[in-house]
Amino acid sequence: METNDGVPAAAGAGPDSPASDSPAQNNTPPVSAAQDNTAQDNPAPATPEVPEFAEVPEEVHGPLPVAELHLHIEGTLEPELIFALAERNGIQLPYADLDELRSRYEFTDLQSFLDLYYANMAVLQTEQDFADMTRAYLSRAALAGVRHAEIMLDPQAHVSRGVALETCVNGVASVLAVSEQEFGISTLLIAAFLRDLSEDSALEVLEQLLALNAPIAGIGLDSAEVGNPSAKFQRLFARAKDAGLHRIAHAGEEGPPSYIIDALDLLDVERIDHGIRCMEDPELVERLVHELMPLTVCPLSNVRLRAVDTLKEHPLPAMLAAGLNVSVNSDDPAYFGGYVDDNFAQLKSVIGLSEFDCVRMAANSIRSSFASEERKTELLAELAASGR
Ligand code: ADE
Ligand code: ZN
Repeated sequence: METNDGVPAAAGAGPDSPASDSPAQNNTPPVSAAQDNTAQDNPAPATPEVPEFAEVPEEVHGPLPVAELHLHIEGTLEPELIFALAERNGIQLPYADLDELRSRYEFTDLQSFLDLYYANMAVLQTEQDFADMTRAYLSRAALAGVRHAEIMLDPQAHVSRGVALETCVNGVASVLAVSEQEFGISTLLIAAFLRDLSEDSALEVLEQLLALNAPIAGIGLDSAEVGNPSAKFQRLFARAKDAGLHRIAHAGEEGPPSYIIDALDLLDVERIDHGIRCMEDPELVERLVHELMPLTVCPLSNVRLRAVDTLKEHPLPAMLAAGLNVSVNSDDPAYFGGYVDDNFAQLKSVIGLSEFDCVRMAANSIRSSFASEERKTELLAELAASGR
């Protein structure tokens, strides 16, 4: 199924669904005359042969242009930056060196990661720190092919340790304001609320953000899922809708399918972050397909947090085959072994995902974003022109 812009259409597992029957792309580089041992007998033709389109190697194309829709800016703090910011701010880290910090990146579940993720935020003290972290992400994301990013910030995780709301928001937002000029990446900021805190705490911070006229495009819901169902945050999401904000929520990462259903029914979300456990409920899958509901899947994150045992067992191929509107995202790339390009690369090399499916998910990411229609059209055209 293709749209007239030449880019595979989102979702829809009709009879022409490419999910399972698309031809795998042959990425084998063409044999050059110099490598070809028959070349001595048969001199190379005067005009070099143009290789078959499908044979052009990956490096020639560059990364797929994508929208990154599921990214926690605090999860982009690389170990080197953690040490640099600690030194700048005179903070004593509980790790002797980079190796010791890296040795902690063995997670048993979401909570074991969250403990380290929140602890490392101690190095973020000033607007400059938040700006430096954001700039570092954007420069790496540009290399990964990210052309639009919707970036979550956890304001409560900073306010609760004495950092002013203005400090974290202004530091990130000051860089997002110039991201398109400096990095070619259009961006939006999403305030994510911690589901293990109370709804009243979230409402209080949301009201402060609105009073500050903070440049947020929407709200999200993250942190410890199990035991903190979507149903707990109905007033928060109603208030956000009333304020004209977009609404997304993590659901079905570790939590059961009912958390996804509640996010749809009670929070009126426009996207589900993760959502992989929807596959346990065929009726829910049917609903998500029918509603074209975007699911921002983070394969490397799911493996590192043991939501799935191995990448080979990841439900993404089954989700694509079911016609779900899935995209590929990095979540917390500094902690989970890779940025969005690394996620795509491992999906191809480990699961054997086809180039066609990768392009399809890139198109899904652009269409599922909150970018302007003009920007979406521009990025879909870029994807169509990228030679895949
Ligand atoms: N906060 C940062 N990363 C998260 C994840 N993968 N799930 C829930 N909350 C998060
Ligand atoms: Zn996340």
